[in-house]
Amino acid sequence: MSTTSLVDRAISVLRLNDTGVFTKPGPHQYPHQWNWDSALVALGLSHFDLPRAQLEIRSLLSGQWRDGMLPSVVYHSVPSDYFPNPEFWQIESSPNAPGVPTTGITQPPLLATVVRLIHDRHPMPDFIQEVLPAMLHWHRWLHTARDADGRGLACILHPWESGTDDSPRWRHLLAAIQPEAVPEFQRGDTKHVPALERPHRAEYERFIYLIDVFRKLGYSHRELLAHSPFLVQDILFNSILFRADEDLRALAVGLGQPTAEIDGWLSRVLSNFDARFWDEGLGLYFDYDLRSGSPIRVNTASTFLPLFAGLPSKKQAQRLVQEHLLDPNEYAFSGDVRHWVTTTARLEPTWEPRRYWRGPVWIIMNWFIIEGLRRYGFDDVAEAIQQDTLGLIEASGFREYYDVRDGSGCGSVDFSWSAALLLELLKSPSH
Ligand code: DGY
Repeated sequence: MSTTSLVDRAISVLRLNDTGVFTKPGPHQYPHQWNWDSALVALGLSHFDLPRAQLEIRSLLSGQWRDGMLPSVVYHSVPSDYFPNPEFWQIESSPNAPGVPTTGITQPPLLATVVRLIHDRHPMPDFIQEVLPAMLHWHRWLHTARDADGRGLACILHPWESGTDDSPRWRHLLAAIQPEAVPEFQRGDTKHVPALERPHRAEYERFIYLIDVFRKLGYSHRELLAHSPFLVQDILFNSILFRADEDLRALAVGLGQPTAEIDGWLSRVLSNFDARFWDEGLGLYFDYDLRSGSPIRVNTASTFLPLFAGLPSKKQAQRLVQEHLLDPNEYAFSGDVRHWVTTTARLEPTWEPRRYWRGPVWIIMNWFIIEGLRRYGFDDVAEAIQQDTLGLIEASGFREYYDVRDGSGCGSVDFSWSAALLLELLKSPSH
């Protein structure tokens, strides 16, 4: 298929999911506004409709909590068959809740990076002036309400905050949580997508149980840090935050605003990132479980996210690529694995080629990895992943994720960020 018709198809997916105010991540499975999805949607829209991209960002920010948290979902269009619905979250138990229905948790802070990427291509100083305070407010919240041990690294309280919802990194942690009682609920996620492509029941029950814990604690940050059974410092989340802090800083400099506060955030992360996450013996980054005080030694593609943020040294980057990304037992093609980049290393016993974050290819992870590889000069590997990514979309359409064996589509159909990132990938240097 020609590049032009791929672009046309991507634009029609974004138009299909456009409600006029926000863009659904997927037409049936995800009928509300998700935080990092929306940031990427804005990036995609900026390639052909800048005012609509700005509206997407404004709609997302309309869900911001009074304390600065930007929630994982803003429910603009209720009712729907999506679960958990606003009634389940009960955010009105918090004095910080906004006047619109949202979830009570956040998601990886990709927004400032997207806003800077757009602004660098299409300068929009008035818009930056408008949205910078809200983004600063969110980052300040992440660096305070979510700084559990004073190291400057943000923590997450729920697997859904990681964006990689049922990653096998969370499996043992969730299994260790023994709910006294799980509230009654009916899963909505397996109505539109086959159960074998969605999280296992044991994990899903704990996702819901955690929400019950949070709503009973009235979403008080102090209480959550003290009592959430799940408390993790995640490399993907912190890599995205570090890069977004740098991008926020650049936007503030552009407006002639002071940056001392952001500089403080950046330097604290720089001094603690490696000590907390890098495993020198294995040459991998691992998340950290704050409850047990130990690294989560599960090898997943999140380990490559620090490249996206420019955090590894050249030597660390070399090890990540040579010893892991190119190793056929882990991420490179081998046996039945024929596509880049499986989200969980092939050698992990929890690897599953079609299930959500257990193995399939995700366009967002490939984009992070491609960007990271280019940043460190691994242009050939980046190009190979980019070509495979385009091939997957061409063969199977704009799906939520793809089976790493045959590239067949999984999860939601007509998935917005897959379309948005196609537009972004085609703008990259090799095209
Ligand atoms: C879901 O419903 O699985 C979402 O990913 C949670 O945000």
